[in-house]
Amino acid sequence: VTVGGLAACSTPRAAIGATSEAVHRAERARQAAGQRTVTARLAARPATLDLGGPTVQTWAYGGAVPGPLLRATAGDRLKVIVDNALPVTTSVHWHGVALRNDMDGVPGVTQAPIAAGSRFTYDFTVPDPGTYFYHPHTGVQLDRGLYGVFVVDDPAEPGDYDAEWVVVLDDWVDGTGRTPDDVLAALRQGGGAGMDMGGMGMDGMDHGSMGSMGEGMQSALLGGAGDVVYPHYLVNGRVPTAPTILTGKPGQRVRIRLVNAASDTAFRVALGEHRLTLTHSDGFPVLPSTTDALIIGMGERYDVLVTLGDGAFPLVASAEGKTGQGLAVVRTGAGAVPAANAAPAELGKTVLLGTDLRPAASAELTRKGNDTTHDLVLGGSMADYRWTINGKTFEDAAPLAVRQGERVRLRLRNMTMMFHPMHVHGHTFAVAGIGVRKDTVIIRPMQSLDLDLDADNPGQWVTHCHNIYHAEAGMMTTLSYR
Ligand code: C2O
Ligand code: CU
Repeated sequence: VTVGGLAACSTPRAAIGATSEAVHRAERARQAAGQRTVTARLAARPATLDLGGPTVQTWAYGGAVPGPLLRATAGDRLKVIVDNALPVTTSVHWHGVALRNDMDGVPGVTQAPIAAGSRFTYDFTVPDPGTYFYHPHTGVQLDRGLYGVFVVDDPAEPGDYDAEWVVVLDDWVDGTGRTPDDVLAALRQGGGAGMDMGGMGMDGMDHGSMGSMGEGMQSALLGGAGDVVYPHYLVNGRVPTAPTILTGKPGQRVRIRLVNAASDTAFRVALGEHRLTLTHSDGFPVLPSTTDALIIGMGERYDVLVTLGDGAFPLVASAEGKTGQGLAVVRTGAGAVPAANAAPAELGKTVLLGTDLRPAASAELTRKGNDTTHDLVLGGSMADYRWTINGKTFEDAAPLAVRQGERVRLRLRNMTMMFHPMHVHGHTFAVAGIGVRKDTVIIRPMQSLDLDLDADNPGQWVTHCHNIYHAEAGMMTTLSYR
C-alpha cells in the first residue's frame, strides 16, 4: 500500500499505515477463498439540511444526516469509495471496528489526509458483528454532521426479534452561523464552561419548556456539565418538534441499535411506559439487563430489546447535565404525538451505565495476567482548555509501547471534574473487575478504571477522549506495536 504526501505530515511517529505483510497475506487468502465483497460510496460534501424546521448549512455524507446506513456480514470484505467534495482535507474512521491498521482512517497516523477534491478507497475485512459508526478523524468535522451507522450482522446468530430500528443521537451546533471550528477556537480562548450559544438558531423553538426536566435529575450520574450548550439535540437528524416516527405493532419485539454520534453530550435514554433490555454494548453481547433508562456516552453504542405496547410513546434522549433533549416517537396505535419536551417517568427510575453490565460468556476475555501496564492520567480543565494524558497533549505525547501477543492493562485515572468517554482504536477491552467488553467507556469525574486488552492487531492505534473537542485539545495518545 502506498500512501502519498507523507512529507506534509509533521508526525513524529515512524510508520504510517504499518500493516504487516502477514495481514496482507491473510487478506489475499480470504479473497481467494470466495469472500463476499460489499461495495459502497460516500460523498462528503456541503449540504443544506432541513432538521424538521430549522434549515442549516453544513457538511454531510451524501447530503443527509445521518449519512447512509452501511451494512455487511462479519467476514465480508467492505470496499468504500470516499469522494471528498469538502473545501478541506478529510478522512473516514470505522469506529469500533478491529480492522487492519492502514484502513483505520487517522490522518498522520495511519494514512495521509484525503485532499479536497480527491478520493480514497477503504478496503478491509470486517471481523466482528455489532453496531458501529463511521466519521472523519479530522479536526472537529464529526460535529458538522459527518457520520453514519455501520451494522455488521452475525452469520451465526440471526437474533430473536421482529423488527430493527437504528437510532442515532446528536448534539447540533452548526447552522447557527458558528461552525464547530469556531466553537473550538472560542473554547481555547477561554469561552469557559457551558459556553452560551447566545440563543442563536433557536428558530422559534420554545427553549423555556425544554428546561422543565429538573437539573437535579439530569446531572446525578456524570456530575459535570458538558462544555458547550447546543441549540438542538437530534434523533435521526430531526429536532424534537418534528420527530422521526418509528412505527410498529403492539406486542412486537424490536431491537433498537442506539448510537451516540454527539461530540460533547452524553444522553439519558428512556422510552415512555416501556422497559429496555440491553443485549449488546459496543457490538459485544452482554448478559441481558433490563432497565428503565440508560446513559450513552459519545462514541458508545447499545443494542436494546423492547416489547412494544399499544399507543404513541416518547423515545427521549435527555442531554445529561445540560438542558434539552432529543425525541423520536414510537407509534403502534392511536394516541396524540408526545410533546417535544415529554419527560417520561422512566428517565428518573433505574439508570444503567456501561460499567453496570456484565459480559455474555462469548464476550469474556480469557483469564490471564498482564504483561504490560500503562498509566493514563487524564488531566486538564476548562480554564485553559488544554486536555491531557499524563500531562501531555497529543502533539507532545510519547506513544505507549506494546508487543503483539501481550495482555495490556490501561490504567485510566480521571483527575478532572468532567466525564471523559475514552475510546481505543482497533481493539475491544474488558473493564477490569467487571468484564464488560467495550471500545468506548465513560470515566466519571475523579473515577479510575482499568481496561484490559489483547494486543492482537499490529499497528499504530490512537486512544482518546470521544468528546471531540477534548480530543482536539490534546486528550489523545497512541498505542504503538513494536
Ligand atoms: Cu470515533 Cu478515534 O474515534
Ligand atoms: Cu474528554
